[in-house]
Amino acid sequence: MQDLTIALTKGRLADKTMALLEKAGYSCEEMKEDSRKLIFRNAEQRMNFFLSKGPDVPTYVEYGAADIGIVGSDIIMEENRRVYEVLDLGFGKCRMCVAGPAAARERLQHHEMIRVASKYPNIARDYFYNTKHQTVDIIKLNGSVELGPLVGLSDVIVDIVETGSTLRANGLEVLETVCDLSARMIVNQVSMQMQTDRIRQFILDVRKALEAWRGKT
Ligand code: PRP
Repeated sequence: MQDLTIALTKGRLADKTMALLEKAGYSCEEMKEDSRKLIFRNAEQRMNFFLSKGPDVPTYVEYGAADIGIVGSDIIMEENRRVYEVLDLGFGKCRMCVAGPAAARERLQHHEMIRVASKYPNIARDYFYNTKHQTVDIIKLNGSVELGPLVGLSDVIVDIVETGSTLRANGLEVLETVCDLSARMIVNQVSMQMQTDRIRQFILDVRKALEAWRGKT
């Protein structure tokens, strides 16, 4: 039996993902320890797990360094890697939005040439160019995107909104919704052919754990 390697996303999704995998019968005790170690092994189940930054998860999966990845659909859309998306995990729910000061609403509606700051330039481009047919200037940022309109870098932002508290705290609001988002499972295309039974079983176990989880809430 070959090893199966799973790439998990650091940060907001990590705890829920690990809890879900444990419920599905794939636990890795070592991972819970507070250490600088990057890769964890469950020798008995022949599974490896590692945590990486979200945008890197589809990269590891496309190249086969991980057979399976768990990552937000925002990142899957932005990275546009050749992977199979096999399961919506239903947690990590949030929205991709155009946000800004209320005053930007009119400029947005009148299709004026505006500046858009985003950690997601591909999603922003696709939304404005292909959905809205509006020409905009897109500026890539790497975090704290809400600063864009506050310091005059951009008119609006395209970013994820979960509770809305970051927007509220900075006097910004949702102006348009681009799409709903949640955590997804992705699979390497070759692994899917070579390890079909194991991967199918893994998906099934995770799906069952999700159903049991949902039944309780
Ligand atoms: C994300 C996002 C928003 C915030 C939204 O940032 O970019 O800033 O969370 O969440 P809320 O609606 O619950 O306030 P993250 O915390 O991942 O950090 P970053 O800004 O450095 O990217």
